Amino acid sequence: MKLRHKLLTIPLLVVSAALLFLALNLSHSESCPASQSLAPGVASMKAVVYRCYGSPDVLEVVDVEMPVAAPHEILVKVEAASVNPLDWHYMRGSPYIMRLQTGLGAPSDSHFGRDFAGTVQAVGVQVTEFAVGDRVYGGANGAFAQYLTRSATGSVAKIPDNVSSAQAASVPVAGITALQALRDKGQLQPGQKVLINGASGGVGTFAVQIAKSMGAEVTGVCSTRNVEMVKSLGADHVFDYKRENYIDSGQQYDLILDTVGNHSLSANLRVLKPEGRLVIIGGAKGDWIGPLAGPIKSMLLQPFVDQKLIRIMAQLNGEDLSTLAGMISDGEVTPVIERSYSLDDTAAAIRHSEEGHVRGKLVLTIE
Ligand SMILES: NC(=O)c1ccc[n+]([C@@H]2O[C@H](COP(=O)([O-])OP(=O)(O)OC[C@H]3O[C@@H](n4cnc5c(N)ncnc54)[C@H](OP(=O)(O)O)[C@@H]3O)[C@@H](O)[C@H]2O)c1
Repeated sequence: MKLRHKLLTIPLLVVSAALLFLALNLSHSESCPASQSLAPGVASMKAVVYRCYGSPDVLEVVDVEMPVAAPHEILVKVEAASVNPLDWHYMRGSPYIMRLQTGLGAPSDSHFGRDFAGTVQAVGVQVTEFAVGDRVYGGANGAFAQYLTRSATGSVAKIPDNVSSAQAASVPVAGITALQALRDKGQLQPGQKVLINGASGGVGTFAVQIAKSMGAEVTGVCSTRNVEMVKSLGADHVFDYKRENYIDSGQQYDLILDTVGNHSLSANLRVLKPEGRLVIIGGAKGDWIGPLAGPIKSMLLQPFVDQKLIRIMAQLNGEDLSTLAGMISDGEVTPVIERSYSLDDTAAAIRHSEEGHVRGKLVLTIE
Protein backbone atom coordinates (compact mmCIF):
# COMPACT_ATOMS: atom_id res chain seq x y z
CA MET A 1 0.00 0.00 0.00
CA LYS A 2 1.31 3.44 -0.89
CA LEU A 3 2.26 5.72 1.99
CA ARG A 4 -0.43 8.28 0.94
CA HIS A 5 -3.14 5.58 1.22
CA LYS A 6 -1.80 4.41 4.56
CA LEU A 7 -1.91 7.97 5.92
CA LEU A 8 -5.55 8.30 4.81
CA THR A 9 -6.61 4.91 6.15
CA ILE A 10 -5.39 5.48 9.70
CA PRO A 11 -7.54 8.56 10.48
CA LEU A 12 -10.54 6.89 8.81
CA LEU A 13 -10.14 3.84 11.05
CA VAL A 14 -9.79 6.04 14.14
CA VAL A 15 -12.95 8.04 13.28
CA SER A 16 -14.91 4.84 12.49
CA ALA A 17 -13.82 3.25 15.78
CA ALA A 18 -14.79 6.40 17.69
CA LEU A 19 -18.22 6.51 16.01
CA LEU A 20 -18.78 2.81 16.73
CA PHE A 21 -17.76 3.33 20.37
CA LEU A 22 -20.16 6.30 20.67
CA ALA A 23 -23.01 4.38 18.97
CA LEU A 24 -22.55 1.37 21.26
CA ASN A 25 -22.49 3.58 24.34
CA LEU A 26 -25.53 5.58 23.25
CA SER A 27 -27.66 2.53 22.42
CA HIS A 28 -26.69 0.42 25.44
CA SER A 29 -29.48 0.15 28.05
CA GLU A 30 -28.66 -1.17 31.50
CA SER A 31 -31.09 -3.53 33.24
CA CYS A 32 -33.41 -2.08 35.88
CA PRO A 33 -32.05 -2.08 39.46
CA ALA A 34 -34.19 -3.62 42.22
CA SER A 35 -36.58 -1.23 44.02
CA GLN A 36 -35.29 0.36 47.21
CA SER A 37 -37.59 0.86 50.19
CA LEU A 38 -37.57 4.04 52.23
CA ALA A 39 -36.08 4.17 55.72
CA PRO A 40 -38.77 3.95 58.44
CA GLY A 41 -40.17 7.31 59.60
CA VAL A 42 -39.27 9.22 56.40
CA ALA A 43 -42.15 11.40 55.16
CA SER A 44 -43.19 9.93 51.82
CA MET A 45 -45.42 10.38 48.79
CA LYS A 46 -46.33 8.35 45.70
CA ALA A 47 -44.48 9.10 42.46
CA VAL A 48 -43.86 7.54 39.08
CA VAL A 49 -40.16 6.83 38.58
CA TYR A 50 -38.07 5.22 35.84
CA ARG A 51 -34.64 3.87 36.68
CA CYS A 52 -33.83 2.27 33.34
CA TYR A 53 -34.76 2.92 29.71
CA GLY A 54 -37.38 0.81 27.98
CA SER A 55 -41.09 0.17 27.37
CA PRO A 56 -43.82 1.49 29.73
CA ASP A 57 -43.04 -1.58 31.90
CA VAL A 58 -40.06 0.35 33.33
CA LEU A 59 -42.42 2.86 34.97
CA GLU A 60 -42.91 2.19 38.68
CA VAL A 61 -45.35 3.85 41.07
CA VAL A 62 -43.41 3.89 44.34
CA ASP A 63 -43.14 5.63 47.71
CA VAL A 64 -40.39 8.23 47.58
CA GLU A 65 -39.18 10.82 50.02
CA MET A 66 -41.43 13.86 50.26
CA PRO A 67 -39.67 16.85 48.63
CA VAL A 68 -39.00 20.04 50.59
CA ALA A 69 -39.03 23.50 49.00
CA ALA A 70 -35.60 25.19 48.83
CA PRO A 71 -35.52 28.96 49.60
CA HIS A 72 -36.37 29.90 45.96
CA GLU A 73 -38.86 27.07 45.40
CA ILE A 74 -42.55 26.25 45.84
CA LEU A 75 -43.93 22.92 47.03
CA VAL A 76 -46.96 21.97 44.92
CA LYS A 77 -49.61 19.38 45.75
CA VAL A 78 -50.21 17.97 42.27
CA GLU A 79 -53.87 17.51 41.34
CA ALA A 80 -53.49 16.70 37.66
CA ALA A 81 -50.73 16.07 35.14
CA SER A 82 -50.74 15.40 31.41
CA VAL A 83 -48.92 13.09 29.03
CA ASN A 84 -46.83 14.26 26.08
CA PRO A 85 -44.80 12.30 23.51
CA LEU A 86 -41.83 13.95 25.25
CA ASP A 87 -42.46 11.66 28.26
CA TRP A 88 -42.01 8.42 26.31
CA HIS A 89 -38.98 9.82 24.51
CA TYR A 90 -37.43 10.23 27.99
CA MET A 91 -38.70 6.79 29.08
CA ARG A 92 -37.08 5.05 26.09
CA GLY A 93 -34.07 7.36 25.96
CA SER A 94 -34.86 7.72 22.28
CA PRO A 95 -33.64 9.07 19.93
CA TYR A 96 -30.41 7.82 21.50
CA ILE A 97 -28.65 11.13 21.00
CA MET A 98 -30.76 12.57 23.85
CA ARG A 99 -28.99 10.19 26.28
CA LEU A 100 -26.00 12.53 26.16
CA GLN A 101 -28.26 14.77 28.25
CA THR A 102 -30.50 12.27 30.12
CA GLY A 103 -27.81 9.70 30.97
CA LEU A 104 -25.83 6.97 29.18
CA GLY A 105 -27.02 3.42 29.91
CA ALA A 106 -29.69 4.51 32.40
CA PRO A 107 -31.48 7.76 33.22
CA SER A 108 -29.43 9.97 35.52
CA ASP A 109 -32.66 11.37 37.03
CA SER A 110 -35.53 8.99 37.89
CA HIS A 111 -38.21 11.72 38.13
CA PHE A 112 -40.89 11.33 35.44
CA GLY A 113 -43.48 13.60 33.78
CA ARG A 114 -43.51 17.28 32.86
CA ASP A 115 -46.94 18.98 32.76
CA PHE A 116 -48.66 19.59 36.11
CA ALA A 117 -51.41 21.58 37.83
CA GLY A 118 -51.99 21.85 41.56
CA THR A 119 -52.00 23.98 44.69
CA VAL A 120 -49.04 25.62 46.44
CA GLN A 121 -48.52 23.88 49.81
CA ALA A 122 -45.39 25.71 50.97
CA VAL A 123 -43.04 28.42 49.72
CA GLY A 124 -39.32 28.96 50.31
CA VAL A 125 -38.23 32.03 52.29
CA GLN A 126 -37.13 33.95 49.17
CA VAL A 127 -40.38 33.38 47.22
CA THR A 128 -42.49 36.46 46.52
CA GLU A 129 -44.30 35.33 43.35
CA PHE A 130 -46.67 32.80 44.96
CA ALA A 131 -48.35 32.14 48.31
CA VAL A 132 -49.67 29.02 50.01
CA GLY A 133 -53.07 28.15 48.51
CA ASP A 134 -52.39 29.57 45.03
CA ARG A 135 -53.49 27.30 42.19
CA VAL A 136 -50.59 26.98 39.76
CA TYR A 137 -49.62 25.06 36.63
CA GLY A 138 -46.62 24.61 34.39
CA GLY A 139 -43.70 22.34 33.71
CA ALA A 140 -41.58 20.52 36.30
CA ASN A 141 -39.28 17.55 36.39
CA GLY A 142 -41.23 14.81 38.21
CA ALA A 143 -44.78 16.04 37.55
CA PHE A 144 -46.22 12.51 37.82
CA ALA A 145 -46.24 12.53 41.62
CA GLN A 146 -48.39 13.62 44.54
CA TYR A 147 -46.07 16.55 45.27
CA LEU A 148 -43.29 18.38 43.44
CA THR A 149 -40.94 21.25 44.08
CA ARG A 150 -39.80 23.71 41.46
CA SER A 151 -38.43 27.22 41.19
CA ALA A 152 -41.02 29.95 41.80
CA THR A 153 -39.88 31.64 38.58
CA GLY A 154 -39.79 30.34 35.01
CA SER A 155 -42.34 27.92 33.59
CA VAL A 156 -45.11 28.31 36.19
CA ALA A 157 -48.22 30.53 36.30
CA LYS A 158 -51.46 30.93 38.24
CA ILE A 159 -54.63 29.08 37.18
CA PRO A 160 -57.74 31.25 36.76
CA ASP A 161 -60.66 30.33 39.06
CA ASN A 162 -62.88 29.11 36.21
CA VAL A 163 -60.24 26.71 34.82
CA SER A 164 -60.06 23.18 36.28
CA SER A 165 -56.80 21.51 37.29
CA ALA A 166 -57.27 18.88 34.58
CA GLN A 167 -57.72 21.59 31.93
CA ALA A 168 -54.67 23.50 33.16
CA ALA A 169 -52.51 20.36 33.32
CA SER A 170 -53.32 19.60 29.69
CA VAL A 171 -51.80 22.88 28.48
CA PRO A 172 -48.06 23.41 29.13
CA VAL A 173 -46.02 21.53 26.49
CA ALA A 174 -48.74 21.17 23.84
CA GLY A 175 -50.32 24.63 24.29
CA ILE A 176 -47.02 26.49 24.37
CA THR A 177 -45.76 24.60 21.32
CA ALA A 178 -48.90 25.57 19.39
CA LEU A 179 -48.70 29.20 20.53
CA GLN A 180 -45.00 29.65 19.78
CA ALA A 181 -45.30 27.82 16.43
CA LEU A 182 -48.14 30.08 15.25
CA ARG A 183 -47.12 33.41 16.79
CA ASP A 184 -43.30 33.39 16.92
CA LYS A 185 -42.08 30.93 14.30
CA GLY A 186 -45.08 31.19 11.97
CA GLN A 187 -45.68 34.94 12.44
CA LEU A 188 -49.34 34.27 11.61
CA GLN A 189 -51.39 37.35 10.63
CA PRO A 190 -55.20 37.80 10.62
CA GLY A 191 -56.73 36.59 7.35
CA GLN A 192 -53.83 34.28 6.49
CA LYS A 193 -54.39 30.65 5.56
CA VAL A 194 -52.84 28.10 7.93
CA LEU A 195 -52.83 24.30 7.59
CA ILE A 196 -52.33 22.17 10.70
CA ASN A 197 -51.23 18.59 9.99
CA GLY A 198 -52.16 16.48 13.03
CA ALA A 199 -55.03 18.78 14.03
CA SER A 200 -56.61 16.26 16.41
CA GLY A 201 -53.58 15.70 18.68
CA GLY A 202 -52.35 17.56 21.75
CA VAL A 203 -50.53 20.30 19.85
CA GLY A 204 -53.04 20.31 16.97
CA THR A 205 -56.20 20.83 19.06
CA PHE A 206 -54.59 23.87 20.71
CA ALA A 207 -53.19 25.13 17.39
CA VAL A 208 -56.58 25.05 15.63
CA GLN A 209 -58.19 27.14 18.37
CA ILE A 210 -55.31 29.59 18.82
CA ALA A 211 -55.04 30.13 15.05
CA LYS A 212 -58.80 30.90 14.91
CA SER A 213 -58.46 33.33 17.79
CA MET A 214 -55.65 35.05 15.80
CA GLY A 215 -58.10 35.58 12.91
CA ALA A 216 -56.66 33.01 10.51
CA GLU A 217 -58.47 30.77 8.02
CA VAL A 218 -57.74 27.34 9.45
CA THR A 219 -57.47 23.98 7.70
CA GLY A 220 -56.97 20.87 9.83
CA VAL A 221 -55.75 17.43 8.78
CA CYS A 222 -56.94 14.40 10.79
CA SER A 223 -58.49 10.95 10.39
CA THR A 224 -62.18 10.26 9.69
CA ARG A 225 -63.19 9.77 13.33
CA ASN A 226 -61.85 13.20 14.30
CA VAL A 227 -63.23 15.34 11.45
CA GLU A 228 -66.29 16.58 13.36
CA MET A 229 -64.24 17.27 16.50
CA VAL A 230 -61.69 19.37 14.58
CA LYS A 231 -64.54 21.30 12.90
CA SER A 232 -66.11 21.90 16.32
CA LEU A 233 -62.83 23.51 17.44
CA GLY A 234 -63.33 26.12 14.71
CA ALA A 235 -61.46 24.73 11.68
CA ASP A 236 -62.88 26.23 8.47
CA HIS A 237 -61.81 23.22 6.37
CA VAL A 238 -60.76 19.70 7.29
CA PHE A 239 -58.87 17.10 5.25
CA ASP A 240 -59.59 13.51 6.25
CA TYR A 241 -56.18 11.96 5.61
CA LYS A 242 -57.75 8.51 5.24
CA ARG A 243 -59.57 9.71 2.12
CA GLU A 244 -57.64 12.66 0.69
CA ASN A 245 -54.16 14.11 0.63
CA TYR A 246 -53.74 17.84 1.27
CA ILE A 247 -50.62 17.80 -0.90
CA ASP A 248 -52.85 17.15 -3.96
CA SER A 249 -55.45 19.77 -3.01
CA GLY A 250 -54.22 22.54 -5.32
CA GLN A 251 -54.48 24.92 -2.32
CA GLN A 252 -51.63 27.14 -1.12
CA TYR A 253 -51.08 28.21 2.48
CA ASP A 254 -49.24 31.07 4.19
CA LEU A 255 -48.29 28.75 7.03
CA ILE A 256 -48.12 25.00 7.58
CA LEU A 257 -47.68 23.53 11.06
CA ASP A 258 -46.51 19.95 10.70
CA THR A 259 -46.85 17.85 13.84
CA VAL A 260 -46.70 14.53 11.95
CA GLY A 261 -43.84 14.64 9.43
CA ASN A 262 -45.42 12.13 7.05
CA HIS A 263 -44.90 14.18 3.87
CA SER A 264 -41.58 15.15 2.33
CA LEU A 265 -40.39 18.75 2.54
CA SER A 266 -40.72 19.12 -1.24
CA ALA A 267 -44.34 17.91 -1.06
CA ASN A 268 -45.13 20.47 1.67
CA LEU A 269 -43.43 23.22 -0.36
CA ARG A 270 -45.87 22.55 -3.23
CA VAL A 271 -48.78 23.71 -1.03
CA LEU A 272 -46.92 26.61 0.56
CA LYS A 273 -47.14 30.12 -0.93
CA PRO A 274 -43.83 31.52 -2.32
CA GLU A 275 -43.35 33.62 0.84
CA GLY A 276 -44.90 30.98 3.14
CA ARG A 277 -43.53 29.30 6.25
CA LEU A 278 -43.35 25.63 7.22
CA VAL A 279 -42.92 25.03 10.94
CA ILE A 280 -41.65 21.50 11.64
CA ILE A 281 -42.95 20.38 15.05
CA GLY A 282 -43.00 16.58 14.96
CA GLY A 283 -41.29 14.03 12.76
CA ALA A 284 -40.68 10.41 12.01
CA LYS A 285 -40.09 7.90 14.83
CA GLY A 286 -36.84 6.01 15.27
CA ASP A 287 -33.95 5.56 17.66
CA TRP A 288 -31.25 6.97 15.42
CA ILE A 289 -31.59 9.48 12.61
CA GLY A 290 -35.40 9.19 11.98
CA PRO A 291 -36.66 12.05 14.19
CA LEU A 292 -33.72 14.27 13.19
CA ALA A 293 -34.05 13.69 9.44
CA GLY A 294 -36.71 16.37 8.83
CA PRO A 295 -34.87 19.14 10.71
CA ILE A 296 -31.52 18.23 9.07
CA LYS A 297 -33.03 18.12 5.56
CA SER A 298 -34.75 21.47 6.17
CA MET A 299 -31.39 23.08 7.04
CA LEU A 300 -29.78 21.66 3.91
CA LEU A 301 -32.71 22.67 1.66
CA GLN A 302 -33.23 26.19 3.06
CA PRO A 303 -30.55 27.97 0.95
CA PHE A 304 -32.27 26.77 -2.25
CA VAL A 305 -35.90 27.80 -1.55
CA ASP A 306 -37.68 31.11 -0.90
CA GLN A 307 -40.13 29.73 1.68
CA LYS A 308 -38.97 29.59 5.29
CA LEU A 309 -38.37 26.09 6.73
CA ILE A 310 -38.44 26.51 10.48
CA ARG A 311 -37.66 24.08 13.29
CA ILE A 312 -39.12 24.64 16.74
CA MET A 313 -38.05 23.55 20.20
CA ALA A 314 -40.83 24.99 22.36
CA GLN A 315 -39.68 26.94 25.44
CA LEU A 316 -41.96 26.76 28.48
CA ASN A 317 -42.21 30.12 30.24
CA GLY A 318 -44.52 31.84 32.71
CA GLU A 319 -45.60 34.62 30.35
CA ASP A 320 -46.93 32.25 27.68
CA LEU A 321 -48.55 30.07 30.36
CA SER A 322 -50.40 33.17 31.62
CA THR A 323 -51.44 34.07 28.05
CA LEU A 324 -52.85 30.56 27.52
CA ALA A 325 -54.56 30.54 30.93
CA GLY A 326 -56.25 33.81 29.95
CA MET A 327 -57.41 32.37 26.61
CA ILE A 328 -58.93 29.34 28.37
CA SER A 329 -60.53 31.49 31.05
CA ASP A 330 -62.06 33.75 28.35
CA GLY A 331 -63.41 30.76 26.42
CA GLU A 332 -61.23 31.37 23.35
CA VAL A 333 -59.54 28.00 23.84
CA THR A 334 -61.03 24.86 25.41
CA PRO A 335 -58.62 21.99 26.11
CA VAL A 336 -59.70 18.70 24.57
CA ILE A 337 -59.22 15.87 27.06
CA GLU A 338 -59.71 12.39 25.62
CA ARG A 339 -59.36 10.49 28.85
CA SER A 340 -58.22 10.65 32.49
CA TYR A 341 -56.09 8.01 34.21
CA SER A 342 -55.02 7.47 37.82
CA LEU A 343 -51.33 7.75 38.76
CA ASP A 344 -51.29 3.93 39.07
CA ASP A 345 -52.33 3.70 35.41
CA THR A 346 -49.56 5.94 34.06
CA ALA A 347 -48.06 3.09 32.02
CA ALA A 348 -51.40 2.56 30.25
CA ALA A 349 -51.61 6.28 29.43
CA ILE A 350 -48.08 6.26 28.03
CA ARG A 351 -48.85 3.14 25.97
CA HIS A 352 -51.86 4.89 24.47
CA SER A 353 -49.81 8.00 23.69
CA GLU A 354 -47.12 5.92 21.99
CA GLU A 355 -49.73 4.51 19.58
CA GLY A 356 -49.89 8.02 18.06
CA HIS A 357 -53.66 8.51 17.88
CA VAL A 358 -54.53 10.48 21.00
CA ARG A 359 -57.49 12.81 20.58
CA GLY A 360 -56.42 16.01 22.35
CA LYS A 361 -54.75 15.22 25.66
CA LEU A 362 -54.46 12.39 28.20
CA VAL A 363 -54.63 13.59 31.80
CA LEU A 364 -53.55 11.91 35.05
CA THR A 365 -55.82 12.73 37.97
CA ILE A 366 -53.79 12.57 41.17
CA GLU A 367 -55.41 11.83 44.53
N1 LIG B 1 -40.72 20.59 18.61
C1 LIG B 1 -41.33 20.73 19.78
O1 LIG B 1 -41.00 21.60 20.58
C2 LIG B 1 -42.45 19.78 20.10
C3 LIG B 1 -43.31 20.05 21.17
C4 LIG B 1 -44.38 19.19 21.40
C5 LIG B 1 -44.56 18.08 20.59
N2 LIG B 1 -43.68 17.82 19.60
C6 LIG B 1 -43.84 16.66 18.72
O2 LIG B 1 -44.99 16.90 17.91
C7 LIG B 1 -45.64 15.69 17.63
C8 LIG B 1 -47.11 15.82 17.99
O3 LIG B 1 -47.24 16.00 19.39
P1 LIG B 1 -48.67 15.87 20.07
O4 LIG B 1 -48.51 16.13 21.51
O5 LIG B 1 -49.68 16.65 19.30
O6 LIG B 1 -48.95 14.30 19.80
P2 LIG B 1 -50.28 13.47 20.02
O7 LIG B 1 -51.13 14.17 21.00
O8 LIG B 1 -49.87 12.08 20.28
O9 LIG B 1 -51.07 13.56 18.63
C9 LIG B 1 -50.87 12.74 17.59
C10 LIG B 1 -51.96 13.07 16.55
O10 LIG B 1 -51.40 12.85 15.27
C11 LIG B 1 -52.47 12.48 14.43
N3 LIG B 1 -52.00 11.75 13.26
C12 LIG B 1 -51.40 10.53 13.22
N4 LIG B 1 -51.10 10.23 11.94
C13 LIG B 1 -51.51 11.26 11.18
C14 LIG B 1 -51.46 11.55 9.78
N5 LIG B 1 -50.95 10.68 8.91
N6 LIG B 1 -51.95 12.72 9.36
C15 LIG B 1 -52.48 13.63 10.22
N7 LIG B 1 -52.57 13.41 11.55
C16 LIG B 1 -52.08 12.24 12.02
C17 LIG B 1 -53.37 11.61 15.28
O11 LIG B 1 -54.68 11.75 14.80
P3 LIG B 1 -55.54 10.48 14.27
O12 LIG B 1 -55.88 9.66 15.46
O13 LIG B 1 -56.72 11.14 13.64
O14 LIG B 1 -54.67 9.72 13.31
C18 LIG B 1 -53.19 12.23 16.69
O15 LIG B 1 -54.32 13.01 17.01
C19 LIG B 1 -44.88 14.60 18.38
O16 LIG B 1 -43.96 14.01 17.50
C20 LIG B 1 -44.13 15.37 19.44
O17 LIG B 1 -42.95 14.71 19.85
C21 LIG B 1 -42.64 18.63 19.33
